[in-house]
Amino acid sequence: MAGARSLVLAAVLFLLLSVFGLCLGGITGKYVRPSASTSDMPKSAFPPPPGFNAPEQVHITQGDHDGRGVIVSWVTPAKRHPSVVTYWAEGDEHKEKQKAHSKINSYRYFTYTSGFIHHATINGLEYDTKYFYELGNGNGTRRFSFTTPPKVGPDVPYTFGIMGDLGQTFSSKQTLEHYMANPKGQTVLFAGDLAYADHYPNHDNVRWDTWGRFIEKSAAYQPWIWCAGNHELDFVPRIGENTPFKPYLNRHSVPYKASQSTSPLWYSIRRASAHIIVLSSYSAYGKYTPQYTWLQQELSKVNRAETPWLIVIVHAPWYNSYNYHYMEGESMRVIFESWFVQHKVDIVFAGHVHAYERSERISNIKYNVINGQSTPVKDPSAPVYITIGDGGNVEGIATSFTEPQPSYSAYREASFGHAILEIKNRTHAHYTWHRNQDNTPVPADSLWLYNRHYYPEEESSP
Ligand SMILES: [Fe+2]
Repeated sequence: MAGARSLVLAAVLFLLLSVFGLCLGGITGKYVRPSASTSDMPKSAFPPPPGFNAPEQVHITQGDHDGRGVIVSWVTPAKRHPSVVTYWAEGDEHKEKQKAHSKINSYRYFTYTSGFIHHATINGLEYDTKYFYELGNGNGTRRFSFTTPPKVGPDVPYTFGIMGDLGQTFSSKQTLEHYMANPKGQTVLFAGDLAYADHYPNHDNVRWDTWGRFIEKSAAYQPWIWCAGNHELDFVPRIGENTPFKPYLNRHSVPYKASQSTSPLWYSIRRASAHIIVLSSYSAYGKYTPQYTWLQQELSKVNRAETPWLIVIVHAPWYNSYNYHYMEGESMRVIFESWFVQHKVDIVFAGHVHAYERSERISNIKYNVINGQSTPVKDPSAPVYITIGDGGNVEGIATSFTEPQPSYSAYREASFGHAILEIKNRTHAHYTWHRNQDNTPVPADSLWLYNRHYYPEEESSP
């Protein structure tokens, strides 16, 4: 009798656990993607602009810590000069225009020689102002524009677009144009893996040039905040290329010194109501290393009274339930996660896995070598982790999931797309993810995010 009762109890317990387990698990998007080519667009799809020595691959990023600076980067293919950017505020067309001079570098990579790569820093701009800027001369003159962010402050609304692992395929084009058709994004947070030039024999660096031309239609008009991924390493000792990140660092300039960083691979900026920290998954981050020391100091400097939203960008995700790059971010998570909980990071954006995933607010920081407590648990002080490596690059989509879906994974889907983070004030931000196949305003995943410092309530998934 006692045995039968035990059996019934065990069955009930099993049933409860099953149901409870299902309830804990998140959603795996059932959307079936049309089979689309993920091959790169041909080089002919990225023609240089017309005109002799016309500036090309124009892109901008924030140029100082608080948003009154812009770094303008471009390439002149034939000659070093002109090395000047001319700029003026909207409405000041008839006043004397201002100028900033570029620093010029070029590099060789195996048999490739780059054009002349310019980086010009413009400082002292007015907040919340539209500027025009002009590069080149003669028939190679080109004009662009950007708008500076509002002054840093706790309730300043601002909207970021987020993309990662973009590459230069037909799907990449769809992602970029889908993002651009979404009128909300004012600045791109880019989660690493840019051109995928390393897909080609000897990392054909012409593919870095084509990528620069590809993204110009967005990146020349709004800042892209750069984070380096593994496809930026371009480390190939076999052909004598022993300097990690050589093409990436020659082509992208970031304001790392403004945040007392010693490397352009990790740094921070403040923009509107957000404090954004960029980390490098592929640089040393263990105790005593420059990145570790910098991040420790950086987190203590964050002033939530001025920038309530604390956002981190890193390439390799710490929480990832796909069967791709599984646990590659684990060692960095082990080292830094307790700091993120202590400092109440709001969101962590990562790339690397070519799909989409959003986590619950969870942490896994209890473990030590004795206690065996190594399971992620709900934690109201923890960030939401978002994998946004779904830009559409040549390596294709990540379609294989670990099963069952872990309880910490709120939503995951093997589709390409981009995300939008609309910060409304110090307490609320609206986050949406947009798959490429949908009309732009349609979010496939969305959430009202509550600020961890000012309103640490639990968000409810739709
Ligand atoms: Fe990657």
